[in-house]
Amino acid sequence: MKKESSLSEEIIDVALVRGFVFPSAEIYGGAAGTYDYGPIGTLIKNKIVNLWRQRFIYEETDHNIRIWEMSGSRLLPEPVFVASGHLEKFNDPLTQCKSCKKSFRVDHVLEDYEVEVTDGTPLEELTEKVKEVGAVCPKCKGELSEAREFNMMFKTQLGATGGHNAYLRPETAQNIFVSFRRLTHSMRAKLPFGIAQIGQSYRNEISPRNFLIRMREFTQMEIEYFVAPEHLIDYPKFDEVASSIIRLVTREMHEKGEKAMDIEVEEAVEQKLLPNQPLAYILALETEFLQLLGVPYEKFWFRHMSPEETAHYSGGNYDLEVDSDYGVIEIVGNAYRQDHDLQCHAKASKTKLRIEHDGKMIVPHVVEPSLGLDRIFYTVLESCYRNDETRTWTWFAFPPHIAPIEVAVFPLRKKPEELIESTIELYLDLKDIGLDVFYDDSGNIGKRYARADEIGIPFCVTMDLESSKDDCVTIRDRDSTDQVRVLTEDLASILQMLIDSELTFVELKEKYSIDEGLVEE
Ligand code: GAP
Repeated sequence: MKKESSLSEEIIDVALVRGFVFPSAEIYGGAAGTYDYGPIGTLIKNKIVNLWRQRFIYEETDHNIRIWEMSGSRLLPEPVFVASGHLEKFNDPLTQCKSCKKSFRVDHVLEDYEVEVTDGTPLEELTEKVKEVGAVCPKCKGELSEAREFNMMFKTQLGATGGHNAYLRPETAQNIFVSFRRLTHSMRAKLPFGIAQIGQSYRNEISPRNFLIRMREFTQMEIEYFVAPEHLIDYPKFDEVASSIIRLVTREMHEKGEKAMDIEVEEAVEQKLLPNQPLAYILALETEFLQLLGVPYEKFWFRHMSPEETAHYSGGNYDLEVDSDYGVIEIVGNAYRQDHDLQCHAKASKTKLRIEHDGKMIVPHVVEPSLGLDRIFYTVLESCYRNDETRTWTWFAFPPHIAPIEVAVFPLRKKPEELIESTIELYLDLKDIGLDVFYDDSGNIGKRYARADEIGIPFCVTMDLESSKDDCVTIRDRDSTDQVRVLTEDLASILQMLIDSELTFVELKEKYSIDEGLVEE
């Protein structure tokens, strides 16, 4: 049943009832900022990850560059974060209610008073603003304390008797920097190369909120691209994307409140709107990736972050921002980290973190795309969610390659027994050739189509009583609800073409006949 609520509320509702995402430990009241992915959500999440691996690792690797994937420990000892600066600087501004003792992020409290503050605003200024607007505790209206720093890392002790401080990693990147020596030696790495990693990161957010947007445990897909200084101006793969268009918001445009402009990546580098070719290359790749996930081009852009929002060592940060029901959210952080990380870990650990390049030992520079899987997952749900006049149920128009299941197979009726048997046989045949298939014979056919739409299954195949006589089955298209009858022997290849987007359903309708099959013009 459809009901009136905000888009994000509708999405949370369907996420709960359709097996996408639930609050963790819900029966005990949950733990704020932690979520479990249910079976359908896990299928979609895995497809997004597979596409990231395919596009950013497998297809990227060629004679010019090698990208390897590693899988590091989530628990890291304190010296890592002393050297990286997280222990000192990975803080959010906190204020506490003097009456109820609840804690809040000062910038979030100020947002409720329509005061925008950027990351990095000094604590005194935040306290001043709280006083200026008369901000009070959002829970009990009590007086708020002065703003202070709160370190967002989860601390623990190693061993039974403790003594060795350790932290859950707040980003996956640090594993890559601290294992740089092993990685380069064992893989005989040559610049440029990349190390990718997907995994959980942990941040003790003061006020986790907005569903999957601000969590305490979340998944990042990061790549550290290690490059020599000359690759910054001449990256071997740059020509592949030079004429790609991205949407960009410069610092000046942001200050003036202007919307994103379309610009060729080559021009953006020439005009020095982007700091180097590898970073520009990554932005082009992300633009393509998001569209493959079904996120419309007009919905996202890259914003050059202001100096206050950028770490002192960074040569430029460009967040991928999305227009969502929660407002503008950052779903990917892109940073030119220069040689900062390797230099600081080399100094602190007294280890040489260098690589041979053109006969010299050098400390490479790093360009990093850091994709937040959960925010991307939410963005995909929001982009593909449909609540329209075409049907009385809400549904998801996932691109077939990220749909949780590719094909649902149904018998038209529950009787006779032979119909069930031959439909199960067809289901198993499609499963054997590697399609993601689902079999269902409960309820009537209309309910089954609705259930398939509700989780975004792009194609349904129905066998009926005629099928045993004419050797045909019916394919139903989720997006148009149109149907085409095809020979069972043509079914697998047609489905594969539809899933791989080599054929549209409209083309199938126009070009397919049972007598002649698929006729190419
Ligand atoms: N290594 C760089 C780094 O971690 P970041 O901008 O702090 O950069 C990258 O994080 C991405 O991780 C963000 O764009 C976002 O998608 C995701 N992310 C960060 N904090 C998050 C949180 N509390 N909940 C969900 N996703 C988060």
